[in-house]
Amino acid sequence: MFRLPAAWAKSTVRSFSSFGKVDERIVSLISGIVGPGNITTSESARNLHGTDESFHPTRAPDAVVTPLTTPHVSEIMKICHSHRIPVIPFGTGTGFEGGVGAVYGGLCIAMHKMTEIVEVNQSDFDATVRGGVTRHQLNDWIRADGLHFPIDPGAGASVCGMCSTSASGTNAVRYGTMRENVLNMEVVLADGTVVHTAGEGRRPKKTSCGYNLTNLFVGSEGTLGVITQATVRLHGIPEATAAAISSFDTVQNAVDTVVQILQCGLPMARIEYLNVDMIRACNQFSNLDLKEAPTLFLEFIGSPSGVEEQAMLAEELCVGNGGENFSWATEHSERERLWKARHNCWYAIKATYPGKHAYSTDVVVPVSHLPETVLYCHSLAEEMEVPCPIVGHVGDGNFHCFLLSDQNNDAEMARIKDFSRRLALTAQSYGGSCTGEHGIGLGKRELLIKEVGAGAYDTMKVVKKSLDPLLIMNPGKVIDLDHLL
Ligand SMILES: Cc1cc2nc3c(=O)[nH]c(=O)nc-3n(C[C@H](O)[C@H](O)[C@H](O)COP(=O)(O)OP(=O)(O)OC[C@H]3O[C@@H](n4cnc5c(N)ncnc54)[C@H](O)[C@@H]3O)c2cc1C
Ligand SMILES: *[C@@H]1O[C@H](CO)[C@@H](O)[C@H](O)[C@H]1NC(C)=O
Ligand SMILES: *[C@@H]1O[C@H](CO)[C@@H](O)[C@H](O)[C@H]1NC(C)=O
Ligand SMILES: *[C@@H]1O[C@H](CO)[C@@H](O)[C@H](O)[C@H]1NC(C)=O
Repeated sequence: MFRLPAAWAKSTVRSFSSFGKVDERIVSLISGIVGPGNITTSESARNLHGTDESFHPTRAPDAVVTPLTTPHVSEIMKICHSHRIPVIPFGTGTGFEGGVGAVYGGLCIAMHKMTEIVEVNQSDFDATVRGGVTRHQLNDWIRADGLHFPIDPGAGASVCGMCSTSASGTNAVRYGTMRENVLNMEVVLADGTVVHTAGEGRRPKKTSCGYNLTNLFVGSEGTLGVITQATVRLHGIPEATAAAISSFDTVQNAVDTVVQILQCGLPMARIEYLNVDMIRACNQFSNLDLKEAPTLFLEFIGSPSGVEEQAMLAEELCVGNGGENFSWATEHSERERLWKARHNCWYAIKATYPGKHAYSTDVVVPVSHLPETVLYCHSLAEEMEVPCPIVGHVGDGNFHCFLLSDQNNDAEMARIKDFSRRLALTAQSYGGSCTGEHGIGLGKRELLIKEVGAGAYDTMKVVKKSLDPLLIMNPGKVIDLDHLL
């Protein structure tokens, strides 16, 4: 039997009540597969695995299993399938959209014991990792080979979790997102079938071989299958890196600079924008004295002379748009100092508003619409009388506004949901998206329908139902369960 959270009563299931529960019999069946030490019903483990970094309340699964191998996952799925038990995959729980909450109870499959780095092919620039390997673990492993896996959501996420949310981060402007960097995945489907999206053992850099199943599972947020292995592209660690910052009078000037930098074909590694509220919080948190103004954080990579040239050209463009206090550095500690504010944004905001929960909006717009979208965000903040710290991956037209609220204060929660929704609708009206990198999860399901339209939404439902006819894979996420019945 499923449990329907009170807050959901309005929007979801009326008569559907056929999900199974993880009772003692199921626990003993599964413990026969993974061993008794790898399944637990302890309250602390259940709560931990029903929570991510979002404002969505904890929704504990009935039990948490930690498989060691793909055959384990497959056998577990077969049991859940035959008892119609909801299954929620769990990477490291750093997600921002409530993706790991067990809305209908069920079994959490936590991947952290599948930690093998299966293969690193140095000369081919790719690596294959199991479901629990984090991006930090992969990078530690390959650093000595002069390689790195550059996709960098701020947190220490799992590579397969990053596949499932189509994550990116500060250097997508240079390296792309997970979508551009996954070559193959091993996925266990709802009925326990194991598939390799690009064919077993394959890792071609290009292919025209049939439908792109890899891309189908990237961004599927655990609703189509459990990703037990991923083959990803690696990149050479650049010889030299330079970091720079510069502050501007207006958002428009800062964004104009970004557009000009991109037009010049400067091979930027990162271009980040912080607004006044964010700089102020960072100054306090990290003891800095940055000018409280719209600020760009830049990073260049290449040869030592190359980065110097790039930094000088960027300085010219910044100054041309009224950029002040341009400073740049190549030495590691000095670069760290310049970028310190950027690296600590999330924690600076949490420290500035103690006791409040932060929620990160995630809109993305064509870069020409960035200034008006940021200004709209400021005007919303003024209207609703809330602070509005912004940090943006502006090279991609993607920015985050951190909204603060007290989870137990209904009025505050309603206000930030309204804020987030109106900002997302505005981004959509400019041809953009409600989510650049965090996903749909629980909170953006309605926005998904608006964004893709009825035809595409119906097609997504067909895909979901044909891969998961019993609807056990992370039910309630991305597509409303009600819409599938
Ligand atoms: C401080 C901070 C900064 C962040 N910055 C960024 C950023 O810049 N860019 C960005 O993209 N994200 C960012 N994030 C969000 C987060 O790191 C990403 O969403 C990340 O991809 C989540 O990975 P995870 O392993 O923690 O997944 P989880 O949170 O465990 O899960 C996320 C979703 O994926 C599903 N899932 C997880 N593992 C699997 C699997 N093996 N198979 C199938 N489904 C699975 C889950 O069911 C859930 O729906 C940030 C988070 C924090 C805390
Ligand atoms: C690359 O992978 C193949 C198997 O696909 C393996 O035989 C080979 O040794 C690997 N090469 C390196 C350099 O790791
Ligand atoms: C298929 O999708 C993956 C993941 O998004 C991507 O890396 C790959 O380039 C795509 N392949 C083709 C042939 O388009
Ligand atoms: C930035 O530059 C302005 C003048 O261009 C100067 O007044 C100000 O002190 C500088 N601020 C910092 C933090 O360096």
